[in-house]
Amino acid sequence: MKLLFLACLSPKTGNYTTAERIRSHIESAGHTCELRDVADFLSPSDVAHLVSQNPPFQGALAIHLFKAGRLLLDIQLPFGVIFGGTDINEDVKDEQKRVVMEQVLLKARFAVAFTEKLKEEAEFVLVSPQSKIYVQPQGIQTEVAEKFCWTEFLMSSEWHSENHLNILIIIGPKVDPALTAKVEAVVKRATGVFLAQERSQRKLHAVMKRCFAVVNSSESEGMSAAILEVNICKAMDLRVPVLARNIPGNAAVVKHGVNGLLFSSPQEFVHQSQRLLSDHKLRERVVRNGKLYVEENHSVKQEKETYQRLVDTLHKAQFSA
Ligand SMILES: *[C@@H]1O[C@H](CO)[C@@H](O)[C@H](O)[C@H]1NC(C)=O
Ligand SMILES: *[C@@H]1O[C@H](CO)[C@@H](O)[C@H](O)[C@H]1NC(C)=O
Repeated sequence: MKLLFLACLSPKTGNYTTAERIRSHIESAGHTCELRDVADFLSPSDVAHLVSQNPPFQGALAIHLFKAGRLLLDIQLPFGVIFGGTDINEDVKDEQKRVVMEQVLLKARFAVAFTEKLKEEAEFVLVSPQSKIYVQPQGIQTEVAEKFCWTEFLMSSEWHSENHLNILIIIGPKVDPALTAKVEAVVKRATGVFLAQERSQRKLHAVMKRCFAVVNSSESEGMSAAILEVNICKAMDLRVPVLARNIPGNAAVVKHGVNGLLFSSPQEFVHQSQRLLSDHKLRERVVRNGKLYVEENHSVKQEKETYQRLVDTLHKAQFSA
């Protein structure tokens, strides 16, 4: 089957790796799956034009009901959708967008939510016929860059050469300029805290793997909670202990003292970090349980089976239509 797969592929969204992984699941079942960026299309009629090309597409898939799914409203092919990070957190708040998302959901053969909570929220705000929404967590696949050099890394991050024993590296893209300015000002005054530029997933994993622990200090769920929560799971997969702020998004994954540690205040953060440094049994336990958590709850094999099964339903729908 020839499938069109629409997603927001801007490099900073983290969607790209998810979309690529799902695409490879579909292709490994013998289908052709063409991944395209939503930015390439202005309207649903652009997409309708594309799918009628020769040889024509036979089905479609989209990540993000509003940003990508709405572009599928003019096509006559069976399609499925995957909820994106801002769908339920942001876009539903705008009534016009919500109505469009409802149309997309009605027309879709199936929808996939990454978490049970997201599915419940979606069913609460959008009219969804019967049980069309499936839950399939994102598969975690951490590939580590082979070549890795701390000194190179430190230099490129403009580190000064002081030798602090405990250091905190804040790494990631500068998405919000106001927040970036605030963080930069604080980091300038702090010792042992450093900012590093974002880098490829493989390099990021290599950095994470060499760390003593990975910290998530988010105070809010953020816009793309559903997509980015996976960073904690990646650390778990790499067998690196996780220290996360006790907010619902993190607490849904991290069970304190079992597969990671939670903190609610700076004092607690320091306390939990010290525990992790001195208690080797604790460290071993959270690493072992973290790995088990990812294997059981973010299995790439299971993700693959789900998408292959769902695409089969599109394949069959094509003939019954
Ligand atoms: C930290 O956790 C929050 C809540 O789970 C999540 O929204 C955010 O994306 C996480 N940040 C990183 C860098 O993993
Ligand atoms: C998988 O996730 C569920 C729900 O959060 C949790 O109860 C279970 O313990 C997890 N599995 C492992 C092996 O941690």
